Amino acid sequence: MGRLEGYRAVVTGAASGIGRAVLRRYIVEGAKVVAVVRSETERAALLAEGAAVVAGDVALYDTAARAVSAAVTQFGGLDAYVANAGLWDFHKRVEKQSPEELAAAFAEIFGVNLLGPLYGARAALAQLRESRGCVIVTGSNAAFLAGGGGALYTASKFALRGLVMQLAREFAPEVRVNGVAPGATDTALSGPASLGQGTRAMNADPARMKTMAEHMLLGRVATPEDHTSLYVLLASRQESAYVTGAMLLSDGGLTISV
Ligand SMILES: NC(=O)c1ccc[n+]([C@@H]2O[C@H](COP(=O)([O-])OP(=O)(O)OC[C@H]3O[C@@H](n4cnc5c(N)ncnc54)[C@H](O)[C@@H]3O)[C@@H](O)[C@H]2O)c1
Repeated sequence: MGRLEGYRAVVTGAASGIGRAVLRRYIVEGAKVVAVVRSETERAALLAEGAAVVAGDVALYDTAARAVSAAVTQFGGLDAYVANAGLWDFHKRVEKQSPEELAAAFAEIFGVNLLGPLYGARAALAQLRESRGCVIVTGSNAAFLAGGGGALYTASKFALRGLVMQLAREFAPEVRVNGVAPGATDTALSGPASLGQGTRAMNADPARMKTMAEHMLLGRVATPEDHTSLYVLLASRQESAYVTGAMLLSDGGLTISV
């Protein structure tokens, strides 16, 4: 019997990387999942994985509302909203961005990394109160330390950690709110289109990945699958009944060793 038998979850950013690995693991553990993807073209692949699929921009409230609604109509409710979609900034320095670029990139990065989870939590709250469910966000080592990205990415992930703490206060005692904070992970994480990073992939640069691996106490970057047990743990009422407001590091020791 799976650890999430009977659970119903929404996972955003589910077409790739960490979100795809969480989606697969949740299904293996017995959960029914609504996958939120960015574009219609990603829909077919996700349907084949056995998930329900909603396509849309997580920076729009309507996307979260449609995802929650799909969980209710197709699965009868919702137990976990996993706000995982994210954009990086490839360490772009502030001085290298014009004021106009800063404004546009701020809107894109904070729209996906912060407003997306906030909208998801808001849209899911009534259902989660009913099921005594939870919100799980994907944070980052950049939610604890400078240097995991540029100013916009780091600020967005620090703000996301604050959001987790505040929502844990506001949603208690019915709904737990937590996060997983991965360190460097082998994915094609991209950045804002306004900085020309929309189709750039973090793991396309072997030198970058090698440098990242050298910073990890465990001597390698993570695979997306390395993090998935923590998402199972945090979703499970039995396994993390007393955990709320936490951001669990899954960073190969990076944060304690720099
Ligand atoms: N890869 C790493 O090293 C690393 C480290 C720490 C944290 N993270 C975080 O992990 C999360 C997942 O990223 P990943 O590494 O798996 O990369 P990824 O690019 O594979 O996954 C991010 C997903 O978010 C989706 N997305 C982006 N903008 C969107 C939008 N506007 N609307 C809907 N979906 C959108 C993308 O389509 C993609 O599927 C992100 O929050 C990222 O910040 C990644």
